[in-house]
Amino acid sequence: MKGSWVSVDGAVLAANIAALRAALQPRTEIMFVIKADAYGHGLLPTAQLAVAAGVRWFGVAHLREALQVRAVLPSVNLLVMGVVEPADAAVVARENLACMVVDVAHGRALAAAARAAGVTVRAHLKVDTGMGRLGVQWPAAVASFAALQGMPELVWEGICSHFATVEPEQPSSAATQAERFLTIAAAAEERLGRPLRKHISSSRAIVYHPEWDLEMVRPGIALYGYGAAEAGLRFQTAPALQWQCQVMQVKSVPAGTAVGYYGTHVTPAPTRLAILSAGYADGYHRALSNRGHVLIRGRRCRVVGRVSMNWISVDVGPEGPAEPGDTAVLIGQQGSVSVWAGELARLCRTIPYEMLVGIDRQAERHYINDAATSPRSC
Ligand SMILES: Cc1ncc(COP(=O)(O)O)c(C=O)c1O
Repeated sequence: MKGSWVSVDGAVLAANIAALRAALQPRTEIMFVIKADAYGHGLLPTAQLAVAAGVRWFGVAHLREALQVRAVLPSVNLLVMGVVEPADAAVVARENLACMVVDVAHGRALAAAARAAGVTVRAHLKVDTGMGRLGVQWPAAVASFAALQGMPELVWEGICSHFATVEPEQPSSAATQAERFLTIAAAAEERLGRPLRKHISSSRAIVYHPEWDLEMVRPGIALYGYGAAEAGLRFQTAPALQWQCQVMQVKSVPAGTAVGYYGTHVTPAPTRLAILSAGYADGYHRALSNRGHVLIRGRRCRVVGRVSMNWISVDVGPEGPAEPGDTAVLIGQQGSVSVWAGELARLCRTIPYEMLVGIDRQAERHYINDAATSPRSC
């Protein structure tokens, strides 16, 4: 029995990238965010598919992710968006990676390590304009840049920030953050005497605020197919990932049958139950107990009882067609019915990101409709 498996549609991913590319001005680069195993899509195959679709910049969280990508893609631009340890300055330089500088102490330590190793490091100043996360606090940003700017070991390539909220129909802090960022970036460019690559927008800002595209945008979720589906938006994308498992057993049960741990579901009438080969160990959230739906033979079937570690029970109905060996779709589409990560996320009171990155990393991942290479799995 296979547990669960994922298939990523390269043609969908390529179409998503093309849709965004067509919406942007030529001067705006796409930095595709592929951290967290490319949001569960598989780091290296996703990066390779994106390169074939024309992407030249990638954002990752950790140095180890950047090194993995660099090993197979020697000429793309890779920005490590987390905090690179000064001790890794030589590796960063050797592998031609770019890194975020998050404050003066970090910049000085990186520069000192680079000096000791006889190398230079590509740097993007990260400014905290209101997110309250990584980066130099905005009131101190210009002074911080001034303190670091003269260090020859830091080769200033960019300046960036990150929005805390973008709410197109409600007041949000985004406009204030953008204003702070643009003011600081202008001052930094003036000090430097040349332009920097400015980037602040991730998916939601890209969809709703073309005015903040600047020299580079950092989309993640929209390119995987979430948050940009509605007609009338600036561009449309569709989910590239499907997640499936297998029907292991089907049985007819009478009314009054208790299902799963603690018997939280009792069948109100005779029906057929299908037992599936995935559970919360595979990333199928336990909060979907008695709430989620899966697709079997083009029909939506409700999860009944508690999701257990490796198995789920679903009600296929008294006459419902299902046989052991059938494929059950946990995320995806079958015929005219679908269940996407957004639906599961709402039921779990979380976000599609968490559903996608929660899929077992060891689940087999297959890549289909991949124009760059022949179909393969990893
Ligand atoms: C710094 C940074 N930029 C860009 C992104 C991409 O965000 P999204 O997936 O919402 O487009 C993230 C994601 O968490 C991020 O942390």
